[in-house]
Amino acid sequence: MFNLPLLSLALVAASSQVMAHGVVTSPTPRTYGTASQAACGTGAIKVLTSDKYGPIENAALKTDTTYNANTCHLFFCRGYQFSDNASNVKVYKPGTVVNFHVDIEAHHTGTANVSVVNLATQTPIGKPLFYWPVYTNNSLGPADWVKNETDFSATIPDLGTQCTKAGACAIQWWWYAFNKQTYESCVDFVTA
Ligand SMILES: *[C@@H]1O[C@H](CO)[C@@H](O)[C@H](O)[C@H]1NC(C)=O
Ligand SMILES: *[C@@H]1O[C@H](CO)[C@@H](O)[C@H](O)[C@H]1NC(C)=O
Ligand SMILES: *[C@@H]1O[C@H](CO)[C@@H](O)[C@H](O)[C@H]1NC(C)=O
Ligand SMILES: *[C@@H]1O[C@H](CO)[C@@H](O)[C@H](O)[C@H]1NC(C)=O
Repeated sequence: MFNLPLLSLALVAASSQVMAHGVVTSPTPRTYGTASQAACGTGAIKVLTSDKYGPIENAALKTDTTYNANTCHLFFCRGYQFSDNASNVKVYKPGTVVNFHVDIEAHHTGTANVSVVNLATQTPIGKPLFYWPVYTNNSLGPADWVKNETDFSATIPDLGTQCTKAGACAIQWWWYAFNKQTYESCVDFVTA
């Protein structure tokens, strides 16, 4: 009952997954739901969600007439909408040390940072919490991979009242690989 053409297509699809790259897995980042689907449209969301590790540029190539540029900002929190994960907002006191884990599926030399971002203006607040001038150098073998690229901690700064309301702020991990691929994950939080 094997359909050989379909099977080989599946294998091609599986091997192209190896080209996929990175995502924050801890703390649990924002993901997509119906609001993201409505905002980003059929074409883009299909690419974003078929490979949670994949570069955003691949989704940008597939935006169609169902993509709403006013609501889906692909290059901010990967286009994922806060309202889909409004129940996944972390509460951090200033000074809290938050441990992150990033799952890197394929190394591509680039630069990366982690910043508190204002979700309304889509701009960073203050200095990056973590910054890598060079991130995941793909000339290095596993023995030389830099530990803090995948496991690091960020200390929550004193943000005054800027981040006291859910949906005001997130911590965004942002990796730009020099082969022109962008990866982002957002962790929604409030300070208390
Ligand atoms: C985020 O939203 C998605 C889609 O609604 C849902 O499947 C997922 O469980 C939510 N994640 C958390 C941690 O609440
Ligand atoms: C990546 O690592 C190689 C080997 O150590 C080094 O020669 C190269 O300069 C590094 N790349 C960057 C961008 O730092
Ligand atoms: C990450 O680790 C590298 C290698 O140990 C170190 O040089 C660098 O300073 C660390 N980065 C930060 C922001 O601590
Ligand atoms: C974080 O990295 C991105 C991609 O390299 C860059 O565009 C952005 O300016 C950086 N943000 C900060 C606050 O340095």
